Amino acid sequence: MLPNSVKLVEVGPRDGLQNEKHAISVADKVALIQRLANAGVKHIEAGSFVNPKWVPQMANSEAVFAALPDDEVCYSALTPNLQGLDRALAAGAKEVAVFAAASEGFSQKNINCSIADSLKRFEAVMQRANDAKIRVRGYVSCVLGCPYDGSVSPQKVLEVSREMLAMGCYEISLGDTIGVGTPASMNRLLDGLLAEISPEQLAVHCHDTYGQALVNIYAAMLRGIATIDSSVAGLGGCPYAKGASGNVASEDVVYLLSGLGIHHGIDLSALIDAGNAISATLGRPNQSRTAQALTEQSG
Ligand code: HMG
Ligand code: MG
Repeated sequence: MLPNSVKLVEVGPRDGLQNEKHAISVADKVALIQRLANAGVKHIEAGSFVNPKWVPQMANSEAVFAALPDDEVCYSALTPNLQGLDRALAAGAKEVAVFAAASEGFSQKNINCSIADSLKRFEAVMQRANDAKIRVRGYVSCVLGCPYDGSVSPQKVLEVSREMLAMGCYEISLGDTIGVGTPASMNRLLDGLLAEISPEQLAVHCHDTYGQALVNIYAAMLRGIATIDSSVAGLGGCPYAKGASGNVASEDVVYLLSGLGIHHGIDLSALIDAGNAISATLGRPNQSRTAQALTEQSG
């Protein structure tokens, strides 16, 4: 059965922009985040506190957080280790996320350590975040396939998710990092996970490389998952997953949810304006099909 209401986690300012080659100014990032908030988005991943040598585009995350208002929106950040958490706390992030992988190859390439070592590192992050009364989200990447190791077993995803929940993550976002999944593999994955984990503790994070993101999201919603990560204008990709395209476009998810009669609380036309503005800044078309169609009609 489909959920009545869905929470959107907008990852465009982080996942969407992290792979951009040209530096994007703090002002442009903040303008994007404010437009998203004005469109009604309540959870926005606004940056990441990773090693700036690894991901230079996120090096100005401190300045971005400093410019954000203290309102009811949850502005969150990725933190790979204690150093990242300390930076996030000092910058005033309201929530952080740790990120593991279900494949060893991606773990090594993305965070320079094994899955087991990353989980040990996250325990320390969790403790300090707990002391600071900050909630921690957990990502598991490559849940439906890995650019380095190929297929990934649902059992491995379950093991990593279980550990991250046990250490205190309030939710696991299941990353189809390279967008290779289909509803068949999504359902196989969820068969394993939902036998043990409640759908309220799961989110889906679908990259749209093979055009499967919306059907995979629909399949996940049919299993009771009601938190969806998306990226305005379909921005993005992961710097450590070559060829992976952006996340599912937020505009397309909102259009789908409205059509299904599922509450989402977002003003689609304001969201499209946000996507068109950042696309203009980046000098490329908005990748969202919904935004393209509705911009065409109104133009
Ligand atoms: P490392 O090089 O192994 O770290 O990187 P280290 O502990 O050995 O330290 C080396 C240097 O990095 C030191 O500086 C540290 O101070 C510095 P030096 O002494 O050489 O001058 N350093 C830091 N500086 C600032 N902030 C920090 C930090 N940590 C260390 N937090 C590390 C390990 C995990 C830090 C690195 O591999 C890294 O930053 N990785 C992040 C890569 C990344 O951001 N990937 C994209 C995000 S994940 C993603 O997109 C997937 C997702 O969307 C879900 C999905 O789609 O599946 C979430
Ligand atoms: Mg991602």
